[in-house]
Amino acid sequence: MKKVYIETYGCQMNVADTEIVFSILAGEGYVRTEEMQEADVILANTCSVRDNAEQRIWGRIEQFHYQRKTRPGVVTGILGCMAERLKEALLESGKVDIVAGPDAYRSLPRLIAAASQGHPQIDVLLSREETYGDIAPVRVDKNGVSAFISIMRGCNNVCSYCVVPYTRGAERSRDWRTIVREACDCAAQGYKEITLLGQNVDSYHFGELDFAGLLDRVATTVPGLRVRFSTSNPQDISDAVLETMAAHDNICKHIHLPVQSGSNRILEKMRRRYTREWYLSRVARIRELMPGCAVTTDVIAGFCSETEEDHRDTLSLFEEVGFDAAFMFYYSERPGTLAAKKYPDDVDLQTKTRRLEEIIALQNRLSLESNRRDLGKTFQVLVEGPSKRNPAELCGRNSQNKMCVWPDTEHRAGDLVDVTVKDCTQATLLCEPA
Ligand code: SAH
Ligand code: SF4
Ligand code: F3S
Repeated sequence: MKKVYIETYGCQMNVADTEIVFSILAGEGYVRTEEMQEADVILANTCSVRDNAEQRIWGRIEQFHYQRKTRPGVVTGILGCMAERLKEALLESGKVDIVAGPDAYRSLPRLIAAASQGHPQIDVLLSREETYGDIAPVRVDKNGVSAFISIMRGCNNVCSYCVVPYTRGAERSRDWRTIVREACDCAAQGYKEITLLGQNVDSYHFGELDFAGLLDRVATTVPGLRVRFSTSNPQDISDAVLETMAAHDNICKHIHLPVQSGSNRILEKMRRRYTREWYLSRVARIRELMPGCAVTTDVIAGFCSETEEDHRDTLSLFEEVGFDAAFMFYYSERPGTLAAKKYPDDVDLQTKTRRLEEIIALQNRLSLESNRRDLGKTFQVLVEGPSKRNPAELCGRNSQNKMCVWPDTEHRAGDLVDVTVKDCTQATLLCEPA
């Protein structure tokens, strides 16, 4: 039996794609291995979203190259967003055998067969239809509790800083019937939570069905599963989606709502199609319909032409919203994007880093304040497994996606347990069985 090893970088959609690749290759008799040294085929599913993501992968390419030099017959390949962005340039490095973009995974068996005859292979064709809707993923998640379900691919938004529309192509939604079927499969396999994935889930539409409709259908079909979704775009998240969330106990009360900047001038240059005021009004609406719903975000510090005043607008927006958590980055220019063509990357690295650190320091305080507000509350938590620090403790997330730990030797991964918050750090709720 041939063995395939895959490393996955980047977002959750890449994790879901890796599971599709495993499924396609399993159909050809490949088995999965977690040891690169014993693999016949070594693949990396890559990310291009920031320069440092790509730099890391160049380091891995050296390792892969070493494997194929020292173990003749080994085939190596780069999949995903970096494959799509760099195309032939990856093959020209002479260090990989296969380059396959995100819509080319059905070709992988053929590409591998040809590459193992010594002919480097490339397929970076983007598709307007491919959703891999008919493919049952081979789950890579270890504890068998939580599964990702891709509901759409690509992105039509063209935010000026972002490489994703170029690496993933045009937006397309997957047939809702295959999504519901996959949710049922997850339930049958013992999963307890699913996360519906898309770059912009609120623009999902298949026939007459929009995202609110899909969410309702999924939540109704698998009442025993928790349902999450990501990512919501502030310009598109509708009251219908919020009302659907509020109506279903099994839809988790957490919205990841990337803001990117608190300055209207910067938002416009980013080609985000909302204002600070609109964003704040969406957050207010979320809290009105679902008090206690967590709101998390992404932010970029030091975008082209960002002034101290723009930066202070971001800090004040963070303060005003009081995010429960955030992913924070400094701007990394991506070749080929609108921003790279139109605007100089003119905030120096030192300033970018300092602004990012200021945002991180503020968010650390906001996360701690958010956790302190939960002291004394009781939450239902889905057990993920033993906590990292202490084998006599379990860890798991509540509906708001906050990590909880508590002393427990009775329950197991996949159980739902009620716990009461006794103490907290900025990252974790320290609990006791309720
Ligand atoms: N589709 C999602 C974002 C996907 S990329 C959305 O629209 O919200 C994930 C995050 O990476 C983005 O939210 C943004 O904060 C960050 N990001 C994207 N391009 C970036 C760049 N060029 N430099 C720094 N951060 C970037
Ligand atoms: Fe990138 Fe914007 Fe699309 Fe998100 S919505 S993937 S940030 S272009
Ligand atoms: Fe990265 Fe591609 Fe996801 S660029 S963030 S892996 S869509």
